[in-house]
Amino acid sequence: MDYDENNLNNAQIPLAFCELFLYNEIKLWIGRRWRLGELLAVLSGKGGTGKTSVCAGIASALAADGKKVLCIDCDVGLRNLDISLGLSDSGALSFLDVSEGGYPLERAAVHPGYPNLSFLTAPMNRPVEKIDPEAFSDMLQSARKQFDYILLDAPAGVDAGFRLVSRGAERFLLVTGAGPAAVRDAARVGDILELSGKRDVRLIVNRVEKTMLKTVRMTIDDVMDTAGLPLLGIVLEDPNVTLAAAFGQPLLRYARRSEAAAAYRRIARRIQGFSEPLPFR
Ligand SMILES: Nc1ncnc2c1ncn2[C@@H]1O[C@H](COP(=O)(O)OP(=O)(O)O)[C@@H](O)[C@H]1O
Ligand SMILES: [Mg+2]
Repeated sequence: MDYDENNLNNAQIPLAFCELFLYNEIKLWIGRRWRLGELLAVLSGKGGTGKTSVCAGIASALAADGKKVLCIDCDVGLRNLDISLGLSDSGALSFLDVSEGGYPLERAAVHPGYPNLSFLTAPMNRPVEKIDPEAFSDMLQSARKQFDYILLDAPAGVDAGFRLVSRGAERFLLVTGAGPAAVRDAARVGDILELSGKRDVRLIVNRVEKTMLKTVRMTIDDVMDTAGLPLLGIVLEDPNVTLAAAFGQPLLRYARRSEAAAAYRRIARRIQGFSEPLPFR
């Protein structure tokens, strides 16, 4: 039956509202069902810049925002993301168990404090060169159908582990310190990513001293200029990061009001597309 939207009789108005409601509900359901999750890699050239801490912090902040998150420790042989997430006793499956071992993604360890945060650890019994990159990429593509965000905690360096991670991801969070050596290193990794056609690369400057924050603006600008990359966030030097790991708890639980926890929450909001001010005071 045809009807003119501008000329409905009283009986047709509730019907039109019902149709509109149903239409919106179906649109939402289809959106949720078919929207693919985002693959983010957390990397740096140098070791010890804070990739694992940043990865765990952002993952728990995204999960606390209600997002479905899968964290994958890709530091084959040196895994420690389980500690920063407070999951060292979880007996989690490794990503290899899923990519090549036939286990479904549903068997990934679920965080007891964040039911929408799942975790796969890194395998210890196979060198990274022997990992099948095709199977790894296929696993990531399946994960995109089930999770809003998939975070890959990369190993240090630009070798096989780096290639495995960068091949699969589409957004890159480059964790660096503010010192010149760290920045040069970040610039080099940025160049390598750009050469392989990866465009969405952002900097996270970690372990910035609070007392330097007022004067550090120049330094941060220098960091961005030297690295030629836009800034995603600044994380202050905060002893709670190491203490939380030592007590086997995620930082957002151990010290939710700490400077680093606030920084991780701000970065997680920016990743979701919200605007959050930088902490210059
Ligand atoms: N913002 C921070 N403030 C203080 N210590 C930090 C901070 N970020 C990381 N650390 C510490 O630095 C060390 C290396 O961090 P980690 O996340 O393991 O780096 P990576 O994964 O790059 O090797 C750890 O002891 C961690 O607790
Ligand atoms: Mg690490």
